[in-house]
Amino acid sequence: MLDRQDNVVPSKVRVIALTADEALEQSLRTTFGASGKIELSIVKGNVLNEESGFSPADASVVIVDLDAGNPDELAALQRLTNRIGRWPPVIVVTEGFNAELGRGLVQMRVADFLVKPVDGIDVVRACARVAQGPTDDEVREAEIFTFLPAAGGVGVTTLAIQTAMTLLNSGPRGGVKTCLVDLDFQHGACADYLDLEPRLDLSEIDPRPERLDRQLLEVMLSRHASGLSLIAAPNRPAEMRSFDPGMVTRLLDLVSSHFDYVVIDMPRTWFSWTDNVLTGSNKLFIVSEMTVPGLRHAKKLMGAISERLGPDQQPLVIVNRFEQRLFAPGLRLADIKQALGAGFCGTVPNNYRLVREAIDRGIPLDEVKSGNNVSAEMKKLVLPQRAKAAKAEPEGKRLLFWAK
Ligand SMILES: Nc1ncnc2c1ncn2[C@@H]1O[C@H](COP(=O)(O)OP(=O)(O)O)[C@@H](O)[C@H]1O
Ligand SMILES: [Mg+2]
Repeated sequence: MLDRQDNVVPSKVRVIALTADEALEQSLRTTFGASGKIELSIVKGNVLNEESGFSPADASVVIVDLDAGNPDELAALQRLTNRIGRWPPVIVVTEGFNAELGRGLVQMRVADFLVKPVDGIDVVRACARVAQGPTDDEVREAEIFTFLPAAGGVGVTTLAIQTAMTLLNSGPRGGVKTCLVDLDFQHGACADYLDLEPRLDLSEIDPRPERLDRQLLEVMLSRHASGLSLIAAPNRPAEMRSFDPGMVTRLLDLVSSHFDYVVIDMPRTWFSWTDNVLTGSNKLFIVSEMTVPGLRHAKKLMGAISERLGPDQQPLVIVNRFEQRLFAPGLRLADIKQALGAGFCGTVPNNYRLVREAIDRGIPLDEVKSGNNVSAEMKKLVLPQRAKAAKAEPEGKRLLFWAK
C-alpha cells in the first residue's frame, strides 16, 4: 500500500467530483467552499463520457455521480475503479439504491456511497473517512494456497489439511490465523478428516450473497482444537449444484481479509468459479499420484491453467504417495522430474498407516506421530514458498476481486 502512505495525513484534501447534476454541484460547492482544508474541482459530465479521459491526478477523493439505472454507466465506473485501483478512493452518489447495486459497488471496491439529495455534512464525513485510507484490518489479505487434484483420490484433502496445519504452526500459537476452505462441495472430506461439523450453509448464502458479512462468516466457521478454522459445507453427493461465481468469490474475499493464510481444497470438476479462485490464489499446487496417467493429467492441467490464466499463474506439481523403487519396475524420481520439468515441486512419501490412522481418528498427522515423514516433507514444500511469496509481493497480496 505504498501509494497510500503519502496520503495518510493529507495536509490538504483534494476532492474531484464528476457530475452533470447542477444541484449536486451546487451542494458540493456550498459544502466545501466553507472549508479551507478541502479543495474541490468539478468535472462536468457523466462517467460514461468522461471515464476514458478522467485523471484523478493528485486527488485524495474522487466523487462519481452515477446513473445506476444505466448499465453502460456502471460498466464505465467499473473501468474507472479498475484503472484507479486502491487510491484515491471513490465515493459514488446515486439517485436510488438497492441491494444489487450495493453488491456491485462493493465488488468494484467503491469506498463509500451516498444517496441524493446528499447532505453536506455526510459528504464531508465520507470524504474525511475515506481520505484516511483503509484501516490495517481492511487492507490485510491472506496468502492463498490452492490445491487441485490431477486425478481422483490422489491426496488433495490430506495435503491441504497438512499444509493448513503447517502454516498455522509457522508462528506463535494463536498468532497465525489460518483457514481451510473446502470447495469440493460435492465430495468434500475436510470436515470428516478433522472430525468437525461442517457449518457452511450454501442454501442460505447463494440466493443473497450480499448478506454474507463478517458476522455470518463467524457462524459458518468450524473450529478445530488446534486453532485451525474450517469452512466446509455438508456434502451433497447426489446433487451437482452450480453456484454463482460471485458467491464463491465473495466468500473467499471475506475469508482472505480475516486470516493470514487460506488453504483451498478444490474439486476435480472445473466450475464457473474455478478461474476466479485460481487467479486469486498466490500459490497453486496440483497433486498427482506416481503413475504415468497421473503425471500426464498433471501436465495437462498445468498447461490448461497457464493457457487460461496467463503466465503469472504457474502451478507446481506435488507427487504424493511417493516411493523409491530402486530395483523394481515403475517410475523413478528422475522420470518424474523429466516429465514435469520446471513444474515439479517435490514428492510426499507414501505412509499409508499414518494417514489412515489420522483420517480414522479425525486428527492431524502430527497428533498420530509428531515429526512424521509426510509432515516433514510438506513443511519443506510449503514454507519456502511462503518466504519467496513474501519477497515477491511486498506491497500486499493479490485480491480475489481482481480475478474478475
Ligand atoms: N502420503 C500418503 N500416504 C499414504 N496414503 C495417503 C497419502 N496421502 C493420501 N493418502 C490416502 O489416499 C486416500 C485419498 O486421500 P484424500 O486426501 O482423500 O484424496 P483426495 O482429496 O484427492 O480425494 C486416502 O485414503 C488417504 O489415506
Ligand atoms: Mg478430497
